[in-house]
Amino acid sequence: THQWRGIIEEYRDRLPVSDTTPVVTLREGGTPLVPAQVLSERTGCEVHLKVEGANPTGSFKDRGMTMAITRAKEEGAKAVICASTGNTSASAAAYAVRAGMVSAVLVPQGKIALGKMGQALVHGAKILQVDGNFDDCLTLARDLSDNYPVSLVNSVNPVRIEGQKTAAFEIVDMLGDAPDIHVLPVGNAGNITAYWKGYREYAADGLATRTPRMWGFQASGSAPIVRGEVVKDPSTIATAIRIGNPASWDFALAARDESGGFIDEVTDREILRAYRLLAAQEGVFVEPASAASVAGLLKAAEQGKVDPGQRIVCTVTGNGLKDPDWAVAGAPQPVTVPVDAATAAERLGLA
Ligand code: F0G
Repeated sequence: THQWRGIIEEYRDRLPVSDTTPVVTLREGGTPLVPAQVLSERTGCEVHLKVEGANPTGSFKDRGMTMAITRAKEEGAKAVICASTGNTSASAAAYAVRAGMVSAVLVPQGKIALGKMGQALVHGAKILQVDGNFDDCLTLARDLSDNYPVSLVNSVNPVRIEGQKTAAFEIVDMLGDAPDIHVLPVGNAGNITAYWKGYREYAADGLATRTPRMWGFQASGSAPIVRGEVVKDPSTIATAIRIGNPASWDFALAARDESGGFIDEVTDREILRAYRLLAAQEGVFVEPASAASVAGLLKAAEQGKVDPGQRIVCTVTGNGLKDPDWAVAGAPQPVTVPVDAATAAERLGLA
């Protein structure tokens, strides 16, 4: 009977809810903080992975969505809408079901992973594929929520950030203090904003003695913050972070500068290398966008930017099952054998 109750109940006094707020939850949060053995060896540091793919719909978005849908319910909304590269839509669709609401999702046509599309479909979302990229979807979602009876649950909705900041609380609660460095993939830049807010709140209230340096990584083909200008036609295999004009751009710059961190880019090749390392050497299967944090840490280490002996947390944001194409692509086809132990043993290299 001691189940984790979800982020709103676990961190109620730090979130904008009241005693009468109708909490909509799937018991999100409370995700594993896993020591990363190979990454620790490679960097000479103590590296941990915050495995957000363990959330109910398989990504960190559930932390923000429990707050956004709870608030929408409290305000009497009947329908919610979001723009998404896939994970937000999967989460919105699931939480809308819990709240008895209709969900509408706008996704860039042909650019979301199959697992995420399946989630939105099976949870009964109304899906529109937009002839444009994520940034166009967000413009359209804002327009619709301004002019029609539907509430916006993207991270431009500040309660999303409130929910997502709880991941930083969990890390400090687990480690006893903030890490030296926190590493994240950056897309629309809501999550780096949320972690920075969470770390600052804990430090301000004396629950941590310090705040970490925030390191963010964008995909090279979708790196507007690194370039300092909007990317009109963003591209990357990490479709979750294929975003050319992040909504929380200024907040990301503040997190970077106030924390003494940086935001850099990683190539698709570096992302895939980290993706394979995580699965094959740490036993943690993440989606490509999530591997951008680890790719970034390895790149920084190779550049001599990582002093040994530090405590580092990398958030891996989404579950590998959402986008399994990259796991299968390029891997050898399994061989077929008859029901015969001698043959099977020989094929397995046991004999
Ligand atoms: N990792 C994953 C797996 C994501 O789905 C996202 C964002 C990010 C990282 C980047 O986080 O946007 O807060 O900087 N996905 C959004 C979506 C855009 O629609 O699911 P961010």
